[in-house]
Amino acid sequence: MGKLSKREASISTMKQQQKHFQCPVCKNDMIIDESGTIRCSQNHSFDIAKQGYVNFLTKHIQSMYSKELFESRREIILSGLYNPVHEKIVEILSASNIINILDAGCGEGTHLDKICGKLESDTVSVGIDISKEGILTAAKYYDQNIWCVGDLANSPFQEQTFDCILNFLSPANYEEFTRLLTPKGKVIKVVPQEGYLQQLRKEAFAKTDKEQYTNERTVRHFKEHLSKVEVFRITYTQPLEEHLVPKLLEMTPLGWHVENINQMHIKEITIDLDILVGEIE
Ligand SMILES: C[S@@+](CC[C@H](N)C(=O)[O-])C[C@H]1O[C@@H](n2cnc3c(N)ncnc32)[C@H](O)[C@@H]1O
Ligand SMILES: [Zn+2]
Repeated sequence: MGKLSKREASISTMKQQQKHFQCPVCKNDMIIDESGTIRCSQNHSFDIAKQGYVNFLTKHIQSMYSKELFESRREIILSGLYNPVHEKIVEILSASNIINILDAGCGEGTHLDKICGKLESDTVSVGIDISKEGILTAAKYYDQNIWCVGDLANSPFQEQTFDCILNFLSPANYEEFTRLLTPKGKVIKVVPQEGYLQQLRKEAFAKTDKEQYTNERTVRHFKEHLSKVEVFRITYTQPLEEHLVPKLLEMTPLGWHVENINQMHIKEITIDLDILVGEIE
């Protein structure tokens, strides 16, 4: 038998996980047929695309993020800049019995793929993002995961489907997260701390109030919705290879404020992130 196409492989993976899908329009169960269409009893249907992802949005949403941004983000993450953060998340996941994991706001999926690649146990990993460009990039590079275009506030999954929701530098919806998590399920949310990308922030927002950043409100909000909250701060500064400077600028909205990229001299970059871990009651 020849190698399966991306679409055939996705149909097969998604069929195995069929019971976890729920129609985002009417909330009924869904069935995946041999031709790669996911359909509910009221005939709302979504096709598995040839690139191997599914678009569950019912109307087009113009994303502020481009294909180039996601490619740059991928290069920066693959350079190892976030490795210590991934290792801490792997340690947290390995200490729990995680089988199904959702990355809500996964972008181009590199964090999820790297993290799951380091786990010793087999997991079912699903990434959802409202940006089609992000999910197209994820599906292009990473075959081991299920990739969905969709709104994390109205996701196409049944209740109590995931043991863990990862939410990496993305917006959260705790009502939806609570619905999706199994009892004692965990949310792992990564948020910037004040030193995050400070060298870039300095260039982009010099002398404006945006140069300062606090995650206080986000952390408070997290604590209001989850219990047994732990916060792990990961801080380090690494040299930045010259060819990665434009990629760093392209991957973040901070870079959009920099007028003359050629005059930027970033030799090192600081990662300063809080990893918030909480359980639903
Ligand atoms: C700053 S990016 C982070 C992406 C990725 N997690 C990372 O850290 O590289 C925020 C992501 O959240 C996604 N996003 C924003 N609102 C969303 C929503 N309502 N549903 C799903 N994704 C959303 C954006 O499209 C974007 O990819
Ligand atoms: Zn439906």
